Amino acid sequence: TYILQNADLVRKETAHLHIDDRGYYFGDGIYEVIRVYEGVPFAKEAHLNRLEESSAKIDMTLPYSGQELIDLLDKLIAANELVNGLVYLQVTRGIEPRNHLYTKNCKPVLTAFTQPLPKKAAAPSAAVHVWLTDDIRWLRCDIKTINLLGNIIAKKEAADQQCQEAIMQRDGFITEGSSSNLFLVKDKVLYTHPATNLILNGITRQVVIDLAKQNGYEVVEEPFPVDVLEHADEAFLTSTTMEIAAISQIKGQLSTSYVPGPVTKDLQEKFRQLLP
Ligand code: PDD
Repeated sequence: TYILQNADLVRKETAHLHIDDRGYYFGDGIYEVIRVYEGVPFAKEAHLNRLEESSAKIDMTLPYSGQELIDLLDKLIAANELVNGLVYLQVTRGIEPRNHLYTKNCKPVLTAFTQPLPKKAAAPSAAVHVWLTDDIRWLRCDIKTINLLGNIIAKKEAADQQCQEAIMQRDGFITEGSSSNLFLVKDKVLYTHPATNLILNGITRQVVIDLAKQNGYEVVEEPFPVDVLEHADEAFLTSTTMEIAAISQIKGQLSTSYVPGPVTKDLQEKFRQLLP
């Protein structure tokens, strides 16, 4: 299989990365995960816009234009003959001897790979168990940084408790999952944390909000306290890789359970209809 190193397709086995890449020393970089369905990247403009936004937020200039990035992704997908799966794309600030302060000369480094995946939306997988824990992350969760230690610690805590995902609370309010966004449903109304600095504004989240509104559901983007989890009719997670995943159980700081309900199923079906 091939990976992209800047604009070059390189065989993964022969690829070399530089030890002075700031991605290693500082996690100084950003990324996107884009789903590919039937060879076509899903919501690619939205993902590339968010990459551009993340880049601007860390005072970095992307080394390629939007169209160049689209062409590079297509080249990678074609080289790997990827039909269903994902593209991981990261841009680090570049290569310089280790120093917290970067210079203007630092040239961003792009790396991308593909990974095949089953087309889940065709048959939504079983409902997931989630672990409710503290949100120990920083205050710029809106930046899709490759610095993911807080997320990784939460995910491992969840896995140790036989849960597939962690959901997090900051000061008593639910923020999001360790690698997903959370929605609650009560009386057919959807509730989710607003797109502030405390969460990543997921592309799947945005797609689901649009879908819900188009189909006559009200969507409330407001922070809600932890105990609201106990009063919801349904709960689900969204992400590029999970798509729309119903939650059947919450454990940890609070315990409650749900039966995958009609609104989740309706949105899963409407989401499936968007795919090629
Ligand atoms: N994670 N919140 C966090 C903290 C995330 O890392 C992600 C995505 C999301 C959902 O965003 P989107 O719908 O754009 O995938 C929300 C990706 C999939 C990952 O790190 O693998």
